Amino acid sequence: MSVSWALPFDEKVLAGGGVRSQAADEYLKEHRVTLQKGAAFWESVASELDWFEKWHAALDSSNPPFHKWFVGGKLNASYLCVDRQLALGRADKPAIVWEGEMWAPGLPSESRVLTYGELSREVNRAAKLLRDVYGIARGDTVGFYLPMIPEFPILMLAAARIGAKFTVVFSGFSAESLAERLEDAGARLLVTADGGMRRGAVIPLKETADKAVAAAPSVRSVIVVRRTGLQVPMKPGRDAFYEDVMSQIPDDAVVDPARMSSEDPLFILHTSGTTGRPKGQVHDTGGYLTLLHATMKWVFDISERDMYWCTADIGWITGHSYVVFGPLLEGATTLMYEGALDFPQPDKWASVIERHGVSVLYTSPTAIRSFMKNGEAWVAKHRTSSVRIMHSVGEPINPEAFRWMHRLVGRSSVPFGSTWWMTETGGIMISVLPGGTMVAMKPGSNGFPIPGVDIEVVDDSGRRSEALQRGLLVIRRPWPGMPLTIHNDPGRYKEVYWSRFPGFFYAGDYAVRDEDGYIWVLGRADEVIKVAGHRLGTYELESALVQHPAVAEAAVVGVPDEVRGEVPVGFVILKTGVERSESLKEALIRLVREKVGPVASLKDVIFVSRLPKTRSAKIMRRVVRAVLVGKPVGDISTIEDEASVEEVRGAYLELQQEVSSRKAGDQEDNGGSPPT
Ligand code: PRX
Repeated sequence: MSVSWALPFDEKVLAGGGVRSQAADEYLKEHRVTLQKGAAFWESVASELDWFEKWHAALDSSNPPFHKWFVGGKLNASYLCVDRQLALGRADKPAIVWEGEMWAPGLPSESRVLTYGELSREVNRAAKLLRDVYGIARGDTVGFYLPMIPEFPILMLAAARIGAKFTVVFSGFSAESLAERLEDAGARLLVTADGGMRRGAVIPLKETADKAVAAAPSVRSVIVVRRTGLQVPMKPGRDAFYEDVMSQIPDDAVVDPARMSSEDPLFILHTSGTTGRPKGQVHDTGGYLTLLHATMKWVFDISERDMYWCTADIGWITGHSYVVFGPLLEGATTLMYEGALDFPQPDKWASVIERHGVSVLYTSPTAIRSFMKNGEAWVAKHRTSSVRIMHSVGEPINPEAFRWMHRLVGRSSVPFGSTWWMTETGGIMISVLPGGTMVAMKPGSNGFPIPGVDIEVVDDSGRRSEALQRGLLVIRRPWPGMPLTIHNDPGRYKEVYWSRFPGFFYAGDYAVRDEDGYIWVLGRADEVIKVAGHRLGTYELESALVQHPAVAEAAVVGVPDEVRGEVPVGFVILKTGVERSESLKEALIRLVREKVGPVASLKDVIFVSRLPKTRSAKIMRRVVRAVLVGKPVGDISTIEDEASVEEVRGAYLELQQEVSSRKAGDQEDNGGSPPT
């Protein structure tokens, strides 16, 4: 049964001056037509790419849910992002503008510009290295554990050029998480760096990679890009520095792009869930690139003159699709920024916009909330009026953050949306469309499904929900960019996404459709936690906690956080006889960081003697979470011990009191005041 949901906005429509605004009805009419055309609609989009050979079937749905797009079509991602751009006369146009973290007024700027011509040269050389020196062949897998440096996209494109798939692991993951993902994907080669820069500190990536490789026997060789100059141990016969091995490859090396089938995998990217190991989402080539081409045009209205900046790390899907493949496919200039958006000063991001003349900006609600917290004086120091389109992604955006950013950077007029999608979808699925029919914006809403994509909010029985009723988000038909499968586990792919509502893809998000048809995605319906927009599975965090000898049981839930959206908190039952202590708390927090990675820092650990459980002893995280956010706990008829709910509530209240008394004594301001 769906429950009525209070929408998080009080102002119905923000009709921004200067926005081409048309009635939602008109867009919905157009959208219906695209659905009526079915796969033929997507054929017209795909035909705008440059295929070596045309497909014979737009969509093969003979073995659902393992749909295949553009079957028989041949293409190559690296060809489309590089060679084709040269053919279109973009050899001298900047493809990648990179800025290192260590820039502040008075310091020389650390930056690199690669034109499409230079990108082509480097991609060809790197492809030759992978193929001829490392023996990487079509179908092999290469792992990447890299900071945000230009070699990252170069190597992704090089792998794609020779038909190898790649698997990227975000550099905030631990050795154990890295090893698990590399092994699962069967990576033969790992490319990492001596270190990465983050807030002025060097992150020792090679050290972590060494530990991971020791536990990932599939990896036989390691290439290390020099970034920080950190001295790192090199294992003879296994490790080599990138610049050393590349020095043997001539500048004019040419590697012909492999003729890949549309349904050949381009990459595997793992997502975390609530149970079991991370799921390796396998993305195809033809469908994925078609979706990116469409969304770069419709959502970002990308043009020849744009300086396009997506602030995501390439370690996540947003970086794959909208730092690397999307913009390069369109021959745009993609800005890559290495570090933290507020380092060394809180206006770093605004100064990047000013110095590079960013015109299209794609960022996250967490980033915007942290900018807000630092205060608008930091923004006012910079000219940001080059921005003509903005979007956010990764988590719901609260209307206050939307309005703040729209006013200060968007001059209360530029198109600004909250694009909904997920690792599984490959690219944007719901958005307002500055490059198409632009509807009026509503702060906090996602807008409408993009053309050709059939998304609905449904009730528990799979029927379309009434307007303003909270329901579940589903995609009702295959779309280009959808996963081919979960690597090595097709049964799980079917079970997780396609079994709840047979025939529909189940996204795992709560959503409402308002009376105008706008979709508002409200958050996860499962126990996935979104920390600063990053997706973390409770399972990995809990498995880390129970590895501690003092811990009997653990449940991790996400609690609301002003800036990061959500943060994970661990509830821990200790073994009999173990004393609760601050030092144990700290040890547990450290353990999770060690096992999963710094990305998974628990905000707190709360000791309890019992947790709400079903009679079959399953922890009811849903109940724990409801208690924490002060929502009704819902149906608890299956609960074993009702008093456990009160214990969780009491323990959490105690913690909050402790935190607020700590805050009262803490005069530290966040971000300081802007320099005069
Ligand atoms: O809950 C939704 C949320 O992020 C989830 C997907 O996470 P991930 O696979 O890491 O991909 C994030 C970047 C594409 C979704 O299930 N989400 C993403 N974008 C939005 C969002 N929730 C609300 N509004 C959004 N714009």
